[in-house]
This record gives sequence, C-alpha cells and structure tokens, in this order.
Amino acid sequence: MSETTEKKLIFSGIQPTGTFTLGNYIGAVRNWGPLQDEYNCIYSIVDMHAITVRQDPAKLRQNTLQAYALLLACGIDPKKSIAFIQSHNPNHAELSWILSCSTQFGELSRMTQFKDKSAKHADDINAGLFTYPVLMAADILAYNADLVPIGADQKQHLELARNIAGRFNQKYGDFFTLPEPFIPKAGARVMSLQDPQKKMSKSDENPNACILILDDKDTIVRKFKRAVTDSESEVCYREGKDGINNLMTIYSVVTGKSLDEITAEFAGKGYGDFKLAVGEAVADHLEPVRTEYARLIEDKAYLKECYTSGAEAAFRITRKTLSKVYRKVGFVDAR
Ligand code: TRP
Repeated sequence: MSETTEKKLIFSGIQPTGTFTLGNYIGAVRNWGPLQDEYNCIYSIVDMHAITVRQDPAKLRQNTLQAYALLLACGIDPKKSIAFIQSHNPNHAELSWILSCSTQFGELSRMTQFKDKSAKHADDINAGLFTYPVLMAADILAYNADLVPIGADQKQHLELARNIAGRFNQKYGDFFTLPEPFIPKAGARVMSLQDPQKKMSKSDENPNACILILDDKDTIVRKFKRAVTDSESEVCYREGKDGINNLMTIYSVVTGKSLDEITAEFAGKGYGDFKLAVGEAVADHLEPVRTEYARLIEDKAYLKECYTSGAEAAFRITRKTLSKVYRKVGFVDAR
C-alpha cells in the first residue's frame, strides 16, 4: 500500500505592492522554495485586497504581474505549487460573503490594521477596508489550509479567521480546518539600515534604509556603505551595537558564516571594509533572483500560462468547498 501521510497545506497571500525588501526575503521569501517539497503550497497575489486602499489601475495591473513574476523568480515552481492571481478565482469573494454573515461587526472594529489604515486614509474609510479580514479568512478557509505563513502584523487577522471558522463550524457542523500560523525556523529579523532599532520597511521615507531585492548591485553596495553603525570600530555582536548586529545577521544569513567567524574575518579591519563585504555578499546572493525576474517579466506569454493554470487549479479546489458550504447553509442546489 502506498504511504498515506498527507502533506499539510500552506496558503499565503501576497499584496501586489511592488517588490520585496531584503527583510521580507530573509524573513520569509527565501524559505518558500524549499517548503514546496514538504508541503502543498498555494500562493495568491491578492489584488482584491489591494483595492481597499486607492490604487492607480494601470499601476495595480503592472504591480500584480510583477509580484507574480517575482514569486516565480524567488523559487515558487508553478508545477509544484499553485500560484495564481486572487481576482481570477471568484470563489474567494463568494465565500467571503458567506463568512461575513458569521463575523461580528464588533470583532472587525477591533482590528488594529483597520484602525491604523482608517487613520492613514481618513478620506476613504470604505467598507472593503473594514471587511478585508473576512476576505482574508475566505482566502485561507476556501482551501482548508492548515498553515499560513504570516508576519506579526497579520496575526490578529489569522486569529479572526480561526474564530470565523470556529463559529461557522458551531452553527453548521464541523467543516473548516482551523488554520495555524506558520513561523519558518530560520527567520531572522532585518532592521533598517538607517535606524537599526526599526524594522526594515519599504515605506521608509529614506530610500537608503531599505534594500529591495531587485536593486542592482551598485545600489545595494551604496546603501550598505551608508548604513548607520556606531562610534566604535570592532565588528562583533554585542548589546548596544544595533547597526553592526543587523549587518552581521544579514551577512551571516547570506554567507552561511557564524557570528564568531565573521568577527574573526574582520578582526583588525574597519567598518568600511565590513560594510562593503556585506553589500557585495547581499548583491551576489540576490543576483539569481534579479536575473530570473528580468527573464520572466519579458515572457508575458509564459506568465499568463502559469497564472491561468494556477487559477484553474485554485478554482477547482475552492468550488468544491463552496458547494459544500452552500449546502450546509441551506441554499437550494443549482444543479
Ligand atoms: N493581508 C495580508 C497582508 O496584508 C495578505 C493576505 C491576504 C494574506 N490574504 C491572505 C496572507 C491569506 C495570508 C493568507 O500581508
């Protein structure tokens, strides 16, 4: 008899907001390729989430394609995983409606991201921004995903998805899998190059604070040369040396060297040498991603083939879920 241990299912949604940062890459994205062998993985570029804040339509279209190409360039293999664009699978929106009827106004009002975003976009506090976590729950529950890789900012939304699933199960009988957060083992936190007490973020107004994974080598090296350090001169990992600690962490991840090895390598050398080495190592490490991205983004026909078949696979899985859900809530069979 063949082995029956089922692989767990991972679902992740990625906002089409341009490129990833080195922080996203080191913290999450670089683990995605290897995960595909151990898990069934489904990745969606969530363009429907993106329009909860105002978007320029031409830019959104471009960003969505770029995000998709980048996903593949980062090692997602469309033959091993399902990779698609959210709006190509209408089942997410359909399930979202059903789930919204098992979601309380009060719990959505407590979402901190809603509060933050409505403060930031005070002139456009639309209902989609408010119900966004329900769509996210639908993304996950439509596949009965076991695991969802998320950063700290999405923990509350995942918790809500679990609560919605639990409430649905209580009302209609056990059905949805309660998704768990998936925190990859080797996730290092990358800090801003300009203010190493802050997380690296692409929304930082100082462009030198953040490395984008599609930055070219010169840009990467230049940004590292300008990285804020301290007034000492010793490359070693120690409390109070946030800038150097951050650079050492990054260098360690991209070279595989331990912190002690790095200290030994730069003993007697200055910060200038160290920063240059980190910049070059990061640029070299990201080179294959950049090259593959440049190739893919020119090959629109191939991208289309991939996202079309991804959406078909996603549709098939979620249509089954939705049919069962419709039956459970008491809708009359359409066929
Ligand atoms: N809300 C997530 C973010 O802003 C993106 C997202 C949408 C997502 N649907 C998801 C993440 C489902 C994980 C699972 O980053």
